[in-house]
This record gives sequence, structure tokens and C-alpha cells, in this order.
Amino acid sequence: AMSSGERRDLSRTIDTVTGGTRLRRLRQTDWVRRLVRESDVTASDLIWPIFVREGAGDPEAVASMPGVFRYSVADCVEAARRARDLEIPVVALFPFTGTERRDETGSEALNPDNLVCRATRAIKDAVPEIGILCDVALDPYTSHGHDGLVKDGRILNDETIELLCRQALVQARAGCDIIGPSDMMDGRVACIRAALDGEGLRDTMIMSYAAKYASAFYGPFRDAVGSTGALKGDKRTYQMDMGNTDEALREAAQDIHEGADMIMVKPGLPYLDILARLVDEFRMPTFAYQTSGEYAVIMAAAQNGWIDGDRAMFETMRSFKRAGASGILSYFSPRIAESLQRR
Ligand code: PBG
Repeated sequence: AMSSGERRDLSRTIDTVTGGTRLRRLRQTDWVRRLVRESDVTASDLIWPIFVREGAGDPEAVASMPGVFRYSVADCVEAARRARDLEIPVVALFPFTGTERRDETGSEALNPDNLVCRATRAIKDAVPEIGILCDVALDPYTSHGHDGLVKDGRILNDETIELLCRQALVQARAGCDIIGPSDMMDGRVACIRAALDGEGLRDTMIMSYAAKYASAFYGPFRDAVGSTGALKGDKRTYQMDMGNTDEALREAAQDIHEGADMIMVKPGLPYLDILARLVDEFRMPTFAYQTSGEYAVIMAAAQNGWIDGDRAMFETMRSFKRAGASGILSYFSPRIAESLQRR
């Protein structure tokens, strides 16, 4: 053990190297940690993705996403009320589509009375003070599970965009506030913007999936919307290659130039570097999508008692905010907002 003289020397050395500024001073208590915290998550940062299904009756559990359900239109309205009461600004609607409503061209996407449009109208009617985001992409409606039209095994860019524009119009007319093109076709943001403006829908916002990577972390989502069995092949000819960063800057620059009001990075946690770079570069409202697979990973470990689920959930949220996200799309949204209210 050290003598008291040696201990004094040690302390003096520490004071010299730290310049007397001991950083632990600001970590002593909860109140001072809160006082100096640089970023935190609030309910206003959250977007809650909700799965809609046909018919009435109890919510259906999504097996690969414990705690997540497919709701009837009536229950979506209830969910929207709950979101409003929790001060969550936006719900994002995703339809479960059975094989009977899928076809080669995803024609159900253009049906003004499709599930998403009916849910949108019902929510707008009952809970007008909440924002609604709808995906634009054909994958919930195609028999092959791809986001675009397929010909001879290739995804057609321009022909797909023609349909995406019509899908966006159908959704905007139903009352959707934010159109979220998630298809990754080239040039779709400009075309959708022009289509909306052409119909006098100038207030409809666009949040583009600007950097969306071909990821393993979408697995449970495809299960939730009924695409798992349907998908033939993979989405690597349109979603981004995970080795690329500069390309994400080019994708975002194009989408912003084309008229995107907000941009998104997806998935979330494995792509925090991309998020931080886009925020740095463009200073745009930039969102992180904590995907179904990221949710499932945390839930599975928590259910096994291997991690503290609540703490892990908040840790990921703080990571997104620290990296500069304006907000986060997360299946944890209601749980986070509830736990923030209890604090
Ligand atoms: C559809 C779409 C996907 C997700 C959001 N929109 C799946 C995909 O591209 O295959 C994934 C969401 C999630 O995993 O939580 N284009």
C-alpha cells in the first residue's frame, strides 16, 4: 500500500494532468447529471409505426416482435388517441396485406379505399391533431414482395415511379400528412413532389428514406406486413450497399434537391455514423428508423434476462439524439413516452 506521502504525490500528479478539472465532479448525482446532459429524448421526438389489418377483433400479436400488434382500423384509431395523449406527434401506418390482395403490379396500392387509406381517414376524423406518415413503395401489395415493378427479374425504375406518384396522391387525398418514399428508386422524390403540387397538395410533406440500406434488420417487419413468404430474391439492386458512406451523402443530396422536407436513415443503430454525417453535412431535419430487427434484438435479449430492456431502449434513443437525429421512428415509441410520463 502507498504511504500517505506517496498518495499525496499521486493526487498532485492527477491534478496536474487533469488541470484540476476532474470530470467525475459532474457525475456525482442524478440532478447534476440531468443538469449537464447534452441531449435527451422526449415524446416529441417519436414517430410510432403501427401495423393495420383488415377486419375487426382483437389485435394480433406479431410473433417476431413481442409487444407489437396488428390492429384493426378501429384499434388504429385507439392507438392514435393513445399516441396523442402521450404527446407522440406522428404515427406511421403499415398495412398487412394477405396474398389475396397482392398482384404482380401492386394494384391495391392505388385503391383509394385500401386499408391504409381507410385507416388514415378514420384517424384524421377522430384524432385530427396527430400527424400521419404513410410509406410509398409497392412491397406491401406485390405478389413478389419487391418495392417496384419487376420485368425479367429486374426492378424497373421509371415505370415504378409512375405508380408511386399515384400511390402518394391516393394517400395524400385520404389525409396523409407526410409521404415517406421507402422504395429507393432514382428520382422519385421530385416526381412525387410534382404530382402532389399538380393536384394542389402543396402542404403534404415528404420524408424520404434517403439512405436506406439492404439490411438484415427488416426481417420481422416483412413478417408483420405479410411479405416474408412473398419476397423473391433480395433488394440489393435498389437499397444501398452497407459498405458505402459517400453514396449516402449523394442519395441525401439528391433527395433534398428534389424537394424532400425531411430525410431518414435506416436502419438506425448500425448506421449511426451515416446519421451523424448527414446531419453534419446538410443540417436538415434528419430521422433514424430503429427497425423491426433492432427492436426484436433488444426484446429477445430482455425476455431472456440477458439485458435490461428498458435501459437498453433508452440507451439507443439517446444514441440517436446524440448523433444528431431530429427524431426516431421506433416500435418502442409508446413504451418510451409512457415511461417518460411516469418520471
Ligand atoms: C418497405 C419498408 C420496409 C421497412 C419499412 N418500409 C421493409 C423493406 O424495405 O423490406 C422496414 C421497417 C422495419 O424493419 O421496421 N419498403
